[in-house]
Amino acid sequence: MDKALTKNIDETRGPLDYQGYVAAGGYASVAKAMEMAPRDMMALIKEAGLGGRGGAGFNTGLKWSFIPEPDGGPRYLVVNADEMEPGTFKDRLLMEQDPHLLIEGVIASAWALQATTAYIFLRGEYTDAEELLLTAIDEAYAHGMLGTSVNGSDYRLELYLHTSAGRYICGEETALINALEGQRATPRAKPPFPQISGLWGRPTLVNNVETICNIPSIVLNGVDWFKQQGLGEEAGSKMFGISGRVNNPGCWELPLGTTFRTLLEDYAGGMREGYSLKAFLPGGGSTDFLMPEHLDVPMSYSEVGKLGSRLGTALVMVLDDKTCPIGCIHNLIKFFSHESCGWCTPCRDGLPWVEHMLLEIEQGRGKREYLDILKEMTGYMGPGKTFCALAPGAMAPLQSGLKHFMAEFEQHIDEQCCPYKHDHQLQRS
Ligand code: NAI
Repeated sequence: MDKALTKNIDETRGPLDYQGYVAAGGYASVAKAMEMAPRDMMALIKEAGLGGRGGAGFNTGLKWSFIPEPDGGPRYLVVNADEMEPGTFKDRLLMEQDPHLLIEGVIASAWALQATTAYIFLRGEYTDAEELLLTAIDEAYAHGMLGTSVNGSDYRLELYLHTSAGRYICGEETALINALEGQRATPRAKPPFPQISGLWGRPTLVNNVETICNIPSIVLNGVDWFKQQGLGEEAGSKMFGISGRVNNPGCWELPLGTTFRTLLEDYAGGMREGYSLKAFLPGGGSTDFLMPEHLDVPMSYSEVGKLGSRLGTALVMVLDDKTCPIGCIHNLIKFFSHESCGWCTPCRDGLPWVEHMLLEIEQGRGKREYLDILKEMTGYMGPGKTFCALAPGAMAPLQSGLKHFMAEFEQHIDEQCCPYKHDHQLQRS
């Protein structure tokens, strides 16, 4: 696999400035993209099979193709850099270590869309990325890559960095659009999808940072090359990462289809001494737990989907044998409950109730009937039962946890205490 996303990254040196980036071959895709008719470029990205890297894996070129033909009015490209999924830090790494790659991807993608305005919607806490991106955007303007005459052409593109006021739901594309418009960040009903009616009612593409960072190398190297970068059916490399009690937590660019075992053992250096793998969440906090017997499954959207979970952001969260699984699930639900936008009742009222019951069980005040209620709640907040995917995502670790960790749930209730409490105290000390 050729490194496409991380080829310029050297954390000891820091990000390349404009000259360094150009010297490393940067911005070459802009001229090549602009030689293509916008619809041809959309077709190229569709054929390449680039799945959206925000977590859903939806074919990027197909999504682009829903954009209507230009009608003389504005159309927008929005980079979703509101990375707030628990355990996920891949976009931060890309933006902090190679901001010009994102800007290059924005220019090439905006050309395909024929947008003259693009936004990067950045998580508010990413202050280092903000500073680095602002510097890189200034450099790109100063060297004629942005502004009234992109790369010496008559194509004009303005790029704005917008920092989020800080809400998980702002990462949902329609809530993000509302936030950009200065409105309360609640999701909108889909359809219409943003490609048809997005920012200020105009055609809008919202794409994740990593997705956009893939565009320059696809434009330069073509479809066949991109397909060869994956190990199985799915094309391209992917940012994979891991957190939890492993020896070397981190984030790496690897071929799609790499196994969990390779990530854990070869890249993360295995579990820390004294800890063994109990379970893992494959891609952020809103995915279903997988178990050690799934370690040899390839990390691709389809293969992980077959197990009843999702690849999601592909940043694995490891649960070890000395951490309370109920405490882990409670912690995640507490986050999602806090982040509910409050728009629809199941999510607004359901998540705090689930959070309360999990706390009671974790702290040794649980009752047997709570288990039935929790199961029932996963149904009330399952896919299709709420306005957006926040609550169904929150239910994923709970419903899979109720399946895999029922013995631990029952033990907490029967013994009226947390059997992992001793380890909790050790962790805190
Ligand atoms: P989704 O599957 O509904 O949509 C994915 C993309 O495809 C969207 O841009 C949508 O507009 C487009 N799309 C889907 N069906 C379409 C259709 N019929 N016509 C036109 N366009 C269509 O997923 P969603 O709700 O946008 O994202 C959920 C994912 O986001 C989850 O997989 C989750 O892992 C991830 N996520 C990532 C976060 C992060 O920090 N990176 C935070 C929260 C969630």
